[in-house]
Amino acid sequence: MSTAKKEYKKVTTNSLFEMKQRGERIAMLTAYDYSLAKLVDQSGIDVILVGDSASNVMAGHETTLPITLDHMIYHASSVIRAVDRALVVVDLPFGSYQGNAKEALSSSIRIMKESGGHAVKLEGGKEVASTIERIVGSGIPVMGHLGLTPQSIYKFGTYAVRAKEEAEAEQLLADAKALEQAGCFALVLEKIPAKLAKEVSESIAIPTIGIGAGGDVDGQVLVLHDMLGMNTDFSPRFLRRYLDLAAQIPAAIGQYVDDVKRRDFPNDAESY
Ligand code: KIV
Repeated sequence: MSTAKKEYKKVTTNSLFEMKQRGERIAMLTAYDYSLAKLVDQSGIDVILVGDSASNVMAGHETTLPITLDHMIYHASSVIRAVDRALVVVDLPFGSYQGNAKEALSSSIRIMKESGGHAVKLEGGKEVASTIERIVGSGIPVMGHLGLTPQSIYKFGTYAVRAKEEAEAEQLLADAKALEQAGCFALVLEKIPAKLAKEVSESIAIPTIGIGAGGDVDGQVLVLHDMLGMNTDFSPRFLRRYLDLAAQIPAAIGQYVDDVKRRDFPNDAESY
């Protein structure tokens, strides 16, 4: 299989499908605000996820459950104003789609209309397939999310690796096929054994994007703040840190505080 990279002026759901067919890996990161989304987009990312992890990262909640549809629309519209190239996918927050397909569709329409996002993402397997059909049927692209689904944390009781047992692995494979059948354009596979993620990726035509799902998936996603090393108290095995901002930012701020206290800042060149 060729792995040639193709330059897309704008990434679409179709580009992602082509990338899987060519064997080109898809790179996805989260963003929740204008300033960082601009840098992420300029760095050549394919997909930006306005994840409901904003609940943890931006608002300091313990879980993703408290974030609301209005909050997600606020974050997504900030991101959209910054992005020229990447496909922007917006999480449907907990409580905005589980009730019924009609509610899910109206939440999705609000996201698309009020934020300008390009697609929505929701968590769950075959139990949400008819909801996905309804959203896709209205012209809104849907990304699925299987494996560790943080909106169900109180059902699982733990953030441990999912689908290690055969029965759950078989169920996950069946769910992936059901989501593809329902019309999803891609699937996130979170924290599942690499062997299972490979089997899922080879069993469906739509791209799989892994987080803690090994290397044999069609793309990877990380939470931006985690890969930039902005916090030290979250260190799962799958996380690679590319910067150490948890040390670098306080060092820079400490230097600024020092400069102000010593009356070194501002100097003549920095004054009018
Ligand atoms: O909300 C989020 O950041 C996510 C990713 C972990 C895939 O769903």
